[in-house]
Amino acid sequence: MSETLFTGITQLATPKPGPKRGGDMGQLDITEHAALLVRDGLVAWVGPAAEAPATANEVNLGGRAVVPGLVDPHTHAIWAGHRLADWEAKLQGATYEDILAAGGGIRSTMRATAAATPEELEQLTRPRLKRLTASGATTVEVKSGYGLDFEAELRMLQVALKLQGEYELQPTLLIHVPPEEDRARYVQGVCGELIPEVARQGLATAVDVFTEKEAFSVEETRAIFTAAAANGLRFKLHADQFHAIGGTELACEMGALSVDHLEASGERQIAALAASDTVATVLPGVTLHLGLPAAPARALVDAGAIVAVGTDLNPGSSPLFSVQLALALAVRLNRLTPAEALTACTVNAAHALGLSDRGSLSVGQRADFCVLAGTDWREVAYALGGQPVQEVYCAHPVQPT
Ligand code: NIG
Ligand code: FE
Repeated sequence: MSETLFTGITQLATPKPGPKRGGDMGQLDITEHAALLVRDGLVAWVGPAAEAPATANEVNLGGRAVVPGLVDPHTHAIWAGHRLADWEAKLQGATYEDILAAGGGIRSTMRATAAATPEELEQLTRPRLKRLTASGATTVEVKSGYGLDFEAELRMLQVALKLQGEYELQPTLLIHVPPEEDRARYVQGVCGELIPEVARQGLATAVDVFTEKEAFSVEETRAIFTAAAANGLRFKLHADQFHAIGGTELACEMGALSVDHLEASGERQIAALAASDTVATVLPGVTLHLGLPAAPARALVDAGAIVAVGTDLNPGSSPLFSVQLALALAVRLNRLTPAEALTACTVNAAHALGLSDRGSLSVGQRADFCVLAGTDWREVAYALGGQPVQEVYCAHPVQPT
């Protein structure tokens, strides 16, 4: 048994365990002059330092605020190549369609990723995960989706599996870009071959679909969700990024874990999410980088939805390597309060991954936590740049970065 009592905590701020919706997102437990007892990677006791149990092993954190480890519920951290030329072209006024027609965009990342060896992908991904972890992420979702064919998709997930020994990852199979021809056969293959193989090899816990005018239709998404469920996998989707074509409504009807993006969501989609247990995940990095409207997180919270925040780290729409910055941007761009944003990045983001054992510094939860540079927990939502997260403790499998 290993046991450590962490003291020297000016403030410990945490949501209670479990997903929070609507007004409950702003309710945090805040303990001044706190202590935290960790036993075998789990929280064994938390409360005022003056009442802490005696223990042989004590670590003084030196007078800093502590918040739960942040959960990044949406990344495309595995990719090869870059999109710097696309970005410059976009700054000069090129549209998404122009870039795609010139051979750029998602397809250029797919070509580079499909051509990379697993070792190369692993080497490219590791420093990205390191940066996310240093920013406060103690659990990171990682998607496939840049494979040109099924084999390349499996290879991406195998890279995630390999890196799971070093980081706490949640891999997701992403059905991202339809082929230019014979898409019906492709969707059949996804449902009848790829998903069963991913499930058989235990390579992912969920399946994600890009449901959009230029990607997969609502009916194709329904077929893919049905196959995921039949193979024991959860499902989620990218929806309402450019157009609200019905993906959100389908996800809520079928019990998806989350609907991510939502920049184009309107009243119907907000009402559907508010009436469901499906998490509404907003991605402020995309708003900033692509200049898209911000997802209506304020309206979602006010309507009673469960809202989470993620980085969407990827080379095309969100080169955001900090989950703490995603949290801070959600306050500015999506109009969450600091307390709501902390809940969105902890218990609610965990719920978006189907996890209930983390996100709250409460007895029995995983002892994943961030030690801030400052003495007030709100710095995690306040700072833009710098290093507001000073140390990261992850119960398993890594110690501080
Ligand atoms: O989450 N919307 C689709 N997929 C990604 C972008 C991927 C890319 O541009 O490489 C997203 O924004
Ligand atoms: Fe994404």
